[in-house]
Amino acid sequence: MLIGVPKEIKIGETRVSMTPSLCRRCVSLGAKVAIEKSAGLSAGFTDAEYRAAGATILPSARKVWAAADLILKVKEPLPAEYGLMREGQAIFTYLHLAAGPELAKVLLKKRILGIAYETVEAADGSFPLLKPMSQIAGRLSIQIGAYRLQSQLGGSGVLLGGIPGTMPGHVVVIGAGNSGAHAVQMAVGMGARVTVLDLDMRKLEALDAEYRGRVVTLMSNPANIEAEVADADLLIGAVLIPAAKAPIVVSRAMVQRMRPGSVIVDIAIDQGGCIETIRPTSHEKPTYQEHGIIHYAVPNMPALVGRTSTMGLTQATELFISVIVEKGIERALAEHKGLAKGVNTRNGKITYDAVAKALGYS
Ligand SMILES: NC(=O)c1ccc[n+]([C@@H]2O[C@H](COP(=O)([O-])OP(=O)(O)OC[C@H]3O[C@@H](n4cnc5c(N)ncnc54)[C@H](O)[C@@H]3O)[C@@H](O)[C@H]2O)c1
Repeated sequence: MLIGVPKEIKIGETRVSMTPSLCRRCVSLGAKVAIEKSAGLSAGFTDAEYRAAGATILPSARKVWAAADLILKVKEPLPAEYGLMREGQAIFTYLHLAAGPELAKVLLKKRILGIAYETVEAADGSFPLLKPMSQIAGRLSIQIGAYRLQSQLGGSGVLLGGIPGTMPGHVVVIGAGNSGAHAVQMAVGMGARVTVLDLDMRKLEALDAEYRGRVVTLMSNPANIEAEVADADLLIGAVLIPAAKAPIVVSRAMVQRMRPGSVIVDIAIDQGGCIETIRPTSHEKPTYQEHGIIHYAVPNMPALVGRTSTMGLTQATELFISVIVEKGIERALAEHKGLAKGVNTRNGKITYDAVAKALGYS
């Protein structure tokens, strides 16, 4: 099997889907690996390191896509890559198809075997390939929010931790999963007042036990959300319904009632976003203002910390990639139920129910 690793082309992307150490593992298991020139540089890995690990370095993305049986990527293929896909090729990457109808059409037309990192499951039903990036995005959301609150950037001028004798900033986190819980952890570390809302009482109980009253936990319902959002200096959107488009939990009217210069970071933007006023931004222009509120909605936040993110991602994907190399794709999918859950498209059909429903194919 030949695994192809193209350089990521999404704006500001710095991650790479394979480290030299993972490359060495694949080669030792019998795979060939072709890496696009400089693909790992922004994550701190040189072509020489990949070569030493047994990879062939190819000069262009076109050559990598043309050679590979399995394309290993980080972000979903972008329009510039659509033409490079080969009929029937396998792609293992984040796909986020519920928010990407155009990409879905291309994958179906080219009969791509699309295995999405975000729907691969662990034995306990959790999403092991989503988890590390969510943890990173959650942690980053607070440092980004704290920065954007600064007066010179148009923010309200609130210091999240305050100082003795002043009111600390109020951080409201909607969704207490992987990203939400890590946002809470950072916000507490900075000394903010923190409120977290979720529909899942077990998640709230766990945070309540961990922070012993230091964090307010609230059931996520329209009344609680409305009251908390109106008082938020920094609002974090961190909800997820697996593989589905994110539900809108904060309405435009709620955003209009926030204090001017407050900040929204909608981590869930890769699934469409959970705030009515949100639209995707990029690392080139990460924010915009609407109703006097600063909105940040970059779908690939982990690219801000390419080294940590690459290590976090690849140590999670390694198990699944090793299984694919050892057994071949078909046997790996037949024998590994969790990996098989990652299959979103196959033979011209959408094979994951929530994705099919979100895109109107079922
Ligand atoms: N922007 C980025 O760079 C980036 C990076 C990583 C992950 N993400 C995205 O962040 C989102 C969250 O991922 P996660 O791993 O934290 O998911 P998760 O499954 O761990 O947590 C999601 C939480 O949302 C809760 N939830 C669902 N509906 C809710 C509602 N109406 N109100 C309150 N809570 C609700 C769930 O109960 C769950 O606890 C996903 O869309 C993921 O793809 C974005």
